[in-house]
Amino acid sequence: MSDLKQLFANNREWAEAIKLEDPDFFTKLDGQQAPQYLWIGCADSRVPADEIVGLLPGELFVHRNVANVVLHTDLNCLSVMQFAVDVLKVKHIIVTGHHGCGGVKAAMSNQQLGLSDGWLHSIRDLYYQQRERLRLIEDDEVRLDRMCEMNVMRQVANVSHTSIVQNAWHRGQPLSVHGFIYGIKDGHLKDLDVTVTGPEQIPEQYRLGPP
Ligand code: CO
Repeated sequence: MSDLKQLFANNREWAEAIKLEDPDFFTKLDGQQAPQYLWIGCADSRVPADEIVGLLPGELFVHRNVANVVLHTDLNCLSVMQFAVDVLKVKHIIVTGHHGCGGVKAAMSNQQLGLSDGWLHSIRDLYYQQRERLRLIEDDEVRLDRMCEMNVMRQVANVSHTSIVQNAWHRGQPLSVHGFIYGIKDGHLKDLDVTVTGPEQIPEQYRLGPP
């Protein structure tokens, strides 16, 4: 059996297993979704969003890219956020990074990778800004993991500074932005406790008035 055929076989097995538990599962999902969460995570194959938080189809809206970067000029990520917040009315946006992230590691090194170097440039800027603090960490692996966490915190800030999130708050729509880190080595998800729930938590410079 070819590698791709295996994927279809796995799929049928998966669908059957779900239908065995709940025969109406897929028909109920047809035509509607009402997820409470938007997950913004790394594209890394070791961090499967729905699986690590035990959610089923229909429960998690997902955007993934290399190193879970949120840029104010990235139409892809912004469109996902806008749809999730304005249309689906998710209550939580969760930025999830992971320890040992290859994208973050690349942004800390001088080796060229190609196109992704440009994508990762804002992480390189962050590393440069934080270099004094990070220099104090002697162990390379620990330093990388700390940088992965700092990257999540930066992306949480970026998400909360968007007009998408701030306009939801202006409308009185409940919306929290969270930062989580996932441990590849133990499979554990950890809350970095950087939750933002309203404009009073963001620096004045980034606060936007109502549209
Ligand atoms: Co990664």
